[in-house]
Amino acid sequence: MIEHIDTLDSLNKHAPIKDKLVSAHMTIKKSLPFIARIAIALYDPETRVLKTFLHSSEDDNPLENYQALIDDAPSLKKILDKGLPRVINNMLTFDDGSKEHTRRIGRVGYAASYTMPMFNDGDFLGFVFFNSMEPDVFNEQALNQIDIFGHMVSLMIIKEISTIKTLAAALRTTGRITHLRDPETGSHLDRMSRYSRMIASALADKYELKDDYIEHIFMFSPLHDIGKIGIPDNILMKPGKLDHEEMEVMKSHTVKGREIVDEILNNFGLDGIDYVNILRNIAEFHHESVNGAGYPSGITGDQIPLEARIVAVADIFDALTSKRPYKEAWTNEAAIETLKQLAGEKLDRDCVDALSDNMEEVENIQQFFKENIYG
Ligand code: C2E
Ligand code: SIN
Ligand code: SIN
Ligand code: FE
Ligand code: FE
Repeated sequence: MIEHIDTLDSLNKHAPIKDKLVSAHMTIKKSLPFIARIAIALYDPETRVLKTFLHSSEDDNPLENYQALIDDAPSLKKILDKGLPRVINNMLTFDDGSKEHTRRIGRVGYAASYTMPMFNDGDFLGFVFFNSMEPDVFNEQALNQIDIFGHMVSLMIIKEISTIKTLAAALRTTGRITHLRDPETGSHLDRMSRYSRMIASALADKYELKDDYIEHIFMFSPLHDIGKIGIPDNILMKPGKLDHEEMEVMKSHTVKGREIVDEILNNFGLDGIDYVNILRNIAEFHHESVNGAGYPSGITGDQIPLEARIVAVADIFDALTSKRPYKEAWTNEAAIETLKQLAGEKLDRDCVDALSDNMEEVENIQQFFKENIYG
């Protein structure tokens, strides 16, 4: 009889995906001790942007919060186009006219790397990077083992992403079935989710935000107004100003949103997932004010979860710069001026600064996600 303890036992338990990646890394190091880092970058096919998502490394200052257009990273683009992994056994002799982001996305200080593209049913999802401090470690025998780990890691990521997609689809479907509608256009949601991610990225250093947190804000921010499906048409679609009573009904979209999210999480068995608190908080608290004058709870400052403070700025900026049934679109300048007036009162100052300091990117997002006849 052989006594054996499953070295990957931690994967059996409920844990954040980051912990699972770290434990897979610990295990792989038992047989391949030179693997100093495993990292994941995800690909957004709509914008062709590749961004860091998760990593496990011994690095003191690992790369967080970086993104680049795939077309600007020719060596990675080549891996994607060929669909084949890439081995670099000596970074010193590897030369692709290395650009800033190419270095930054993972190569700094590493002597060798192995990069695997991740696919789900043929769709490209991103890359898994394995790095070593020593050159010439990725021989055929090592790679045969690493491939197995690479695919395991890739399955973990696919499951994570598909859980989020199930969740988003469940929320959308619920909206349609209740035959209630979303008055906000698709392009509002495209823009405000990107503003939210941009604000979170700009705050990453100061607030020590991790890439997966930023990515979850991006994924969940479009659902901030899910509770509006419970608001009657005559109020939701009113072409003019809401009176006091109507506004009180409208305000209930926050608590209704939280309830809808909870119910769906429950019905789809998704309520055990830690990061869905980010979604709950966004739905419930995106109209709170830092001075306590917001709704539904009147909480102040740091009591308001950061994700809700971020989404509030992104949502208001886009509401101001868009046409609504009840208002015309404002210019960016006028909207920023108003946000600056609201900073420290209604809105979080750091979040407002993060937006107003990055107007070039705001304009890119506006160009990319213009309003069209389909909304
Ligand atoms: P929404 O249209 O998505 O607007 C989100 C938030 O953007 C608003 O939250 C408000 O903080 C800000 N905002 C939008 N338009 C303006 C504006 O013209 N001036 C200023 N200073 N801020 C603006 P709020 O006020 O809590 O409203 C929540 C939701 O209630 C709105 O979401 C909208 O669906 C509805 N709503 C608010 N006011 C009216 C109105 O006068 N008529 C109609 N039909 N709906 C309204
Ligand atoms: C690159 O190859 O462009 C950088 C990614 C890496 O190999 O770590
Ligand atoms: C994004 O960061 O995903 C959007 C940038 C762009 O639209 O160019
Ligand atoms: Fe709202
Ligand atoms: Fe909104």
